[in-house]
Amino acid sequence: MTPAPDAPLLVVDALRKTYRLPGGTRLTAADQVSFTVARGGSLGIVGESGSGKSTVARTLVGLIRPDSGTITVNGADRTPGRGRRTRRDRLARAREIQMVFQDPYVSLDPRLTSRQCLRIALRLHGHPSTDPHIESLLDQVGLGTREADARPHELSGGQRQRLAIARALAVDPRILVLDEAVAALDVSVQAQILLLLDEIRKDTGVALVFVSHDLSVVQHITDETLVMRRGTVVEQGPTGRVLSAPEHPYTRLLLDSVPREGWDPAAARARAGS
Ligand SMILES: Nc1ncnc2c1ncn2[C@@H]1O[C@H](COP(=O)(O)OP(=O)(O)OP(=O)(O)O)[C@@H](O)[C@H]1O
Ligand SMILES: [Mg+2]
Repeated sequence: MTPAPDAPLLVVDALRKTYRLPGGTRLTAADQVSFTVARGGSLGIVGESGSGKSTVARTLVGLIRPDSGTITVNGADRTPGRGRRTRRDRLARAREIQMVFQDPYVSLDPRLTSRQCLRIALRLHGHPSTDPHIESLLDQVGLGTREADARPHELSGGQRQRLAIARALAVDPRILVLDEAVAALDVSVQAQILLLLDEIRKDTGVALVFVSHDLSVVQHITDETLVMRRGTVVEQGPTGRVLSAPEHPYTRLLLDSVPREGWDPAAARARAGS
């Protein structure tokens, strides 16, 4: 059955993931995590370190198998570990959801030029991989001919992240999951990449799931925000509302912890301790 055009693109329902620790106890990394993302929408997932953000992000792309809960993309069950696990199924998920990691140095092959890297990604998914196709992808992320023939170590951090985004887009996915994708970049490069992602979303209609510990990053490019704490969702809603009128004390605490003009570290510390 084809889903209704206004049905959410991504539906995550009651996701739960626990890890067995040495000694036999279990750590709950995510519990009862539910949210939806509209076609071409953007969701920010925020929370302190260890709150379960990456666990959720990695489950979305099939790197983690949840204990329970479901992930549905465009009406199809894409819960990792559910059903057959064939190469065909993996490719089907990859065509729908792509991920960009914090450190492109780790995820890019150091031996390949940008051009070769993109050619491989295009071919893997049966897309045309001629030079004009590759150059138009590079152009979409603001990389030119010099960068096309450079290897990762010959690119700046921002350029490497642009290449990682281009590789994810090569597949023409419906959803791009970005886990701390700008965290390692300096503030001005961060702003450029965020602007680029926003443009790409408008041009291609790809939906974004943007994981960040940094509220100011999420603020700029997401419509909706979900706040996680110790594996559970404590608050979710339109980004503007969550940041301007947070309902949960933990969200207020997170907001107070962001250094900005007039910020008082002692007050933030006192509230964190309370
Ligand atoms: N493979 C694993 N085995 C055991 N525990 C794990 C494993 N992966 C993650 N955890 C634990 O699960 C919890 C959630 O981790 P997760 O990486 O999702 O947090 P996060 O919100 O992404 O944090 P950060 O902002 O530091 O990246 C943490 O307590 C973490 O120690
Ligand atoms: Mg993380």
